[in-house]
Amino acid sequence: MATEILEAQTDSPPVAPAPVIDAGAPVLLFDSGVGGLTVLEEVRRLLPDAPILYAADTAGLPYGTKTEAQVAARVAGLLGRMAERFRPRLICIACNTASTIALGMVRDVLETPIVGTVPAIKPAAALTQSGVIGLLGTQATIRQGYVDRLEREFAADQRLLRYGAPGLVGAAEAKLRGERVDPAAIAEAVNALRAMPEGARIDTVVLACTHFPLLEDELAEAFGPGVGFVHGAQGIARQVARLLEGQPFARTAPDRALFTGDPSFADAYRGALTRFGLEAIERF
Ligand code: DGL
Repeated sequence: MATEILEAQTDSPPVAPAPVIDAGAPVLLFDSGVGGLTVLEEVRRLLPDAPILYAADTAGLPYGTKTEAQVAARVAGLLGRMAERFRPRLICIACNTASTIALGMVRDVLETPIVGTVPAIKPAAALTQSGVIGLLGTQATIRQGYVDRLEREFAADQRLLRYGAPGLVGAAEAKLRGERVDPAAIAEAVNALRAMPEGARIDTVVLACTHFPLLEDELAEAFGPGVGFVHGAQGIARQVARLLEGQPFARTAPDRALFTGDPSFADAYRGALTRFGLEAIERF
C-alpha cells in the first residue's frame, strides 16, 4: 500500500493548486502620469469586464529626467504598498521608463504577476523599409541597457536613432487636460531625430513612452508622409489578457484612478479620466 502511494506520488509530482482569484480583484496599471491610459484603452478593448485600478505617480512626474536610483525607489516602494493594500491580480507597469529600469527588481520582490512596457523595437524592425528607425523616449529610457539589448537582438542590421524628448511628456499631459499642445515641443523632437546622421531616411518611429501615442497625430503631421509609428500598447494588452485567461471578473464598484501628491492635480484630468472609464479619483 505504502509503495503504491509512493509510486503514485512519484508519477504525479505535486502541482501547486491554482490560486483562487477574487472576481473583484483589480488589474493595476501604473505610470508616472496619464501616459498609461494609452495602455488602459487597449486592455479594456480585450477585457471589458476587468476591474481596473489606474495609479499615476504624479508626485514623481516626470520620471524621464530622474536618476535610475530615484525611479527604482519610487516604483518599487509604491508598487509594494499598492500590492499590499489593493491585492491586484496583476500589475502592468504602463511606463517604459519605470519598466526598463525597475521591472526586474519589482518582479524579484512581489508575488503578483507583472507585465512591463518596453520599447517596441521588434515590430519597428519588421516594418521599416529604409532600415532607419527613430526612437522617441524619455531621457532615462533611451540610455538603458534594456534598450541596447533590444536593439542588439532585433535591429542589429538596422540603424536605430534615439532621442530623449522631455517636452513631449508635458505636451501629452497638457493635451489630456484639454489644453493646446505646444507645437515647439513637437518640432523639437522631430527636428532632433531628422538632424541625426541618416535621420532624413527614418520611415518608422517607435513611441517608447506611453505618453507619446497621445500625440501621434501631431507627430505624424510634423514628420510628414511616409513615416509610420509603433508602440507597445496592443502587445501589452494581449499579454495581460493571456495571463488572465479563464479568470472570473466582476466590477463591484466604479473603476478608480489613484494619484500620488496633491489631489487638486487630478481635477484638471477629470474629463479625460471619465472618458477612459475611470469614474472615481482618490489620493494615494
Ligand atoms: N510614461 C512614461 C514612459 O512611458 C514616462 C513619462 C515621465 O517622464 O514620467 O516612459
